[in-house]
Amino acid sequence: MKNILVTGGAGFIGSNFINHILEERDDYFIINLDKLTYAGNLENLKPSEKNKNYTFVNGDICNSELVNYLFEKHKIKYVINFAAESHVDRSILGSEIFYRTNVVGTSVLLDTARKFEVEKFLQVSTDEVYGSLGKEGLFTENNSLSPNSPYSSSKAAADLAALSFHHTYGLPVVVTRCSNNYGPFQFPEKLIPLMIINSLNDKKLPVYGDGMNVRDWIYVIDHNIAINTVFEKGRVGEVYNIGASNEMPNIEIIKLVLKHLEKPEDLIQFVKDRPGHDRRYAIDSSKIQSELGWKPEFSFEEAINKTIDWYVRNKDWWSKIISGEYLKYYEKQYKM
Ligand code: NAD
Ligand code: TYD
Repeated sequence: MKNILVTGGAGFIGSNFINHILEERDDYFIINLDKLTYAGNLENLKPSEKNKNYTFVNGDICNSELVNYLFEKHKIKYVINFAAESHVDRSILGSEIFYRTNVVGTSVLLDTARKFEVEKFLQVSTDEVYGSLGKEGLFTENNSLSPNSPYSSSKAAADLAALSFHHTYGLPVVVTRCSNNYGPFQFPEKLIPLMIINSLNDKKLPVYGDGMNVRDWIYVIDHNIAINTVFEKGRVGEVYNIGASNEMPNIEIIKLVLKHLEKPEDLIQFVKDRPGHDRRYAIDSSKIQSELGWKPEFSFEEAINKTIDWYVRNKDWWSKIISGEYLKYYEKQYKM
């Protein structure tokens, strides 16, 4: 049995990871440590909550005493660190919690992992650490890091801290840098669920700038299969880019959502651009493909349609979210 501390497992990618991997594997015991911030939601974990190989702990990765206690109690030998403040716009409104959770929290996990001599520490990072691309080219693992937002700079700091623990102490660290994810259970502050839910509610769709910023989209299950591949087979001290070679300008995705839901394009509203808005991300994932044999399984067309339909069917899930704190955030961000 592999005792794995999964942090941030009540969020979008972490909950999809836990639900998926517990279906696939009976040799993983998962301890999910999550602070249940606005983005954490135990409803995402309904398929796993009764699994004998799963346990949940409500707590903060910055809490060194708690983290030490959990390593001791569960004889943790593996860590997959998803926990983070993850939204660029929120990091622009206020950055302190981003540096606290993403940088200090990761350093607490690294220190504890070193003390307990873990066998693998996977740091979930992002392609945003590379900065922004021009019209041509792709991010490879050899690109220099040039993060532009408080969010991406905090992720770059955490990613470098993890690699430094490998270099300095020999901690068996691997880092994954993935492009933009979409799928079920994504918090509706991010582009795709926000546009789906606003369309369903006949609300305006706020498009930043000219709508021509490009992101490279991957289905969350493909990301999670890649994470597990790197977790099992990745060489320590290495970085692996993850992406599905699916670049699209934002406006195209928004039009596709409207078309699928049979809503009019006049819901689109161009709004003030995001400060420091990165123009284009695009990932070269040839390293993980050639070295570890991973490749994306889902086509964009299939997975985006599946995703839109999931939000249509799961109004109960999102209608609880888009009140209270969310409305306050929405008003502040979009000044409506
Ligand atoms: P999310 O915001 O949906 O979930 C984050 C989770 O972390 C939440 O459950 C939250 O409660 C928890 N958390 C936050 N602070 C915590 C703390 N101090 N202690 C314990 N738990 C805490 O984020 P996501 O989209 O699922 O992203 C997961 C990871 O993947 C992040 O590290 C993010 O940087 C990375 N990533 C995301 C994307 C993407 O497209 N969403 C792409 C590449 C990488
Ligand atoms: P987002 O989902 O926030 O991911 P990231 O900024 O981490 O890539 O945004 C994806 C793209 O969509 C990005 O170019 C910003 C744009 N965007 C909008 O145009 N309007 C919105 O309301 C949001 C949330 C994002």
